[in-house]
Amino acid sequence: MTTSGQTSPFFPASPEAYSLSELFLIVLGFMAVIFVIVAGLVFYVSWRYRHRPTEAAAGAGGEAATVEPPQVFGNKQLEIVWTAIPLLILLIITGFTVRSMWAVDVPTELTQKPDLRIVGHQWWWEARYASGVVAANEIHIPAGKRVLVEVEGWDVIHDFWVPRLARKVDCIPGHPNFIWLQASEPGSFLGFCAEYCGAQHAWMQIRVIAHPEAEFAAWEQQQKAAPPAAKDALVARGEKLFKEKTCASCHAVAPMAAGPRTAPDLAHLASRTTLGAGVLPYNKENLRAWLEHPEKYKPGSLMPNFRLGADELDALVAYLETLK
Ligand code: CUA
Repeated sequence: MTTSGQTSPFFPASPEAYSLSELFLIVLGFMAVIFVIVAGLVFYVSWRYRHRPTEAAAGAGGEAATVEPPQVFGNKQLEIVWTAIPLLILLIITGFTVRSMWAVDVPTELTQKPDLRIVGHQWWWEARYASGVVAANEIHIPAGKRVLVEVEGWDVIHDFWVPRLARKVDCIPGHPNFIWLQASEPGSFLGFCAEYCGAQHAWMQIRVIAHPEAEFAAWEQQQKAAPPAAKDALVARGEKLFKEKTCASCHAVAPMAAGPRTAPDLAHLASRTTLGAGVLPYNKENLRAWLEHPEKYKPGSLMPNFRLGADELDALVAYLETLK
């Protein structure tokens, strides 16, 4: 079985996603054949037995007589055939479905600890690795390796869905679910929250970034590293502001901070590609704009507007930019 997904219109990028798209196409194939047969018969019968007065009656100008189709009652052979064929089709589909479930689902009795815990928050994603590394909104995994993920909700029900990689799974507060997360090849895979969870549900993007194994190890190592100790005056002022303005009450900046958190972990913010769970691409200017007016980009976001002055914004941005 190929898992590259080049032949599928859904571009699956993992054996799990491949199995799901294959199952969908098989069922779609059966449905297409049935649709063509049923729709074809409906059109044929409507045409064959359409209303048309017999020539004699029409000529006489009287009541129009129509051609009645022959009426058939109780044909045992026909009934056996139309029971047996759907039964066979359903049995074949059941076989493929069970095969997909084996490929996709995590066993109910787990013999290993999860490699990663993903928690859905309003409106961002928290990722905690078994190694202690913490990330937000961008989840890095080693390509080609099957990662066991524990999925939960923090406040309301969210739904983790990265279409090219894994099955959809609900993130329910207090009820962990488990999935396999895997990418056959390195790449960046976009995912979404697939359960309406409030005003910014649509801006709850997730990015799964699959690296070659060595590159992933380097990423994990980098995530454990502390920010540089040497600071210029502006950065030092920003760090002080971060504490004074109570940013630190919700956001962790120390690498591998113990959880749980009410806001995204910022330990390596400056190495991410987006801000606000995908609402803005990460760069210095956007970071400043976001801090200045979070509501403008993400109405309803729990990130308050601190009404920061231009000099405060400069200092905070300079400080956050050191968190690589
Ligand atoms: Cu979280 Cu929708």
